[in-house]
Amino acid sequence: MKLSIKKILPRSLLGRSLLILMTPIFLIQVITTYIFFDRHWDKVTGRLAFAVAGEVAMIVSDVENASDGDEIEAISQKAVKALDFLVSFDDGATLSKKRDDRNTMVGKALSESLSYKISQPFRISIDIEEKWVEVSIALQNGVLRITMPQRRLFSSSGYIFLLWMIAISITLLAIAILFMRNQIRPIRRLAIVAERFGRGQDAPASFKPEGAREIRQAARSFLDMRDRIRRQIQQRTAMLAGISHDLRTPLTRMKLQTEMLGDTPDAAELKSDIAEMEKMVNAYLDFVRGEGDEKTEAISLNDLISRIIINTRRIGIDISEKDLPEIMLTVRPVAFERCLMNIINNATKYAHHIEISVENTENELLLHIDDDGPGIPEEALGDVFRPFFRVDESRNLETGGIGLGLPIAQDIILSHGGHIELGRSPLGGLRATIIMAK
Ligand SMILES: Nc1ncnc2c1ncn2[C@@H]1O[C@H](COP(=O)(O)OP(=O)(O)O)[C@@H](O)[C@H]1O
Ligand SMILES: [Mg+2]
Repeated sequence: MKLSIKKILPRSLLGRSLLILMTPIFLIQVITTYIFFDRHWDKVTGRLAFAVAGEVAMIVSDVENASDGDEIEAISQKAVKALDFLVSFDDGATLSKKRDDRNTMVGKALSESLSYKISQPFRISIDIEEKWVEVSIALQNGVLRITMPQRRLFSSSGYIFLLWMIAISITLLAIAILFMRNQIRPIRRLAIVAERFGRGQDAPASFKPEGAREIRQAARSFLDMRDRIRRQIQQRTAMLAGISHDLRTPLTRMKLQTEMLGDTPDAAELKSDIAEMEKMVNAYLDFVRGEGDEKTEAISLNDLISRIIINTRRIGIDISEKDLPEIMLTVRPVAFERCLMNIINNATKYAHHIEISVENTENELLLHIDDDGPGIPEEALGDVFRPFFRVDESRNLETGGIGLGLPIAQDIILSHGGHIELGRSPLGGLRATIIMAK
């Protein structure tokens, strides 16, 4: 039960606000309309019928007392002038058994009043389209027909009332939509800006807190939070860069000192350790240098991948793409390319064949980079994203990596609001999947 109600309810804030606003109005209108028709309209119709019945009764008694046709003609002329009634008398006729309309609301009211006022049998026929009501009364020697315009019996105020109700509801709804839309727009804007921030994109320059007080407050808090997070990231990066940079001076000094140690095995080990440390520090500095000030930009994924494929083939690697659809991505282009290159460079080190493919789901874009190498053992999949982690030291001796490629790639994709997953490739080696939210 709870579930089905949730399904029916509108999902948008605008829809819900309108529902909350319009439901009571609609209810009030239904109740008012019901009361109006039940009480007021019924009563008005009853009174109109009563008055008409009285006039009919007067004509009936006049016609019964008339001595000849001329007198009936005079009564008829008076009735047209004073009452809007058309009166005719069919001498010798009898009441036909045509359809009787005393079952309609007005017919019922009229027949009730007539039965009260006259004793003769009668028949009522209502022609809604032609707007006429006809009462035929059986007199002693003929049938008296009295035709009157419908408005003598129908109170049109009921329809006018209904029309007004509908018109008011529509006007109210229109005004509500207009105003609510304006109230909701700043919330939607804020949501978009928040989402873009999650993907490492800047807010549009025109964005500023606006709308109702609470919304403005939320927007301001969000902007403050965003600035704090940015400052924090910048400060972290700057500090790490500073430490790495400063480490180079003692490293250089140590390198010079080991030169003076001669050619002992201990000295050789020391030298290789220092060389490795230097490589780590340089790799990190290399990465940090471009970070931070690059702006996001919409790029064609196809163009980027085609370029990477051409460059990679040039160095003799078997790399191909599998039917890439035309896709635009909003990313920091240099960082994004670096991430792709880190993954592809790994594959070129361990595998012979590389394949790039795209899966486009409803909410995500999946970019697979498959290779036919040895892959990464399951238990190490989580660790390779840790800085300086390498799966198998002996395997890495000749490849010369220092274990920053995947952590940096992951860091770049995280800052775009996505993430990288590693797993088994259908080609037998590693499948690295870059998952970007849409
Ligand atoms: N395509 C791959 N096939 C097999 N092993 C891989 C692949 N990519 C990465 N690895 C393993 O994950 C480790 C971490 O990779 P990475 O962070 O790029 O560091 P690096 O390449 O500098 O060693 C590598 O040392 C390697 O053992
Ligand atoms: Mg690498």
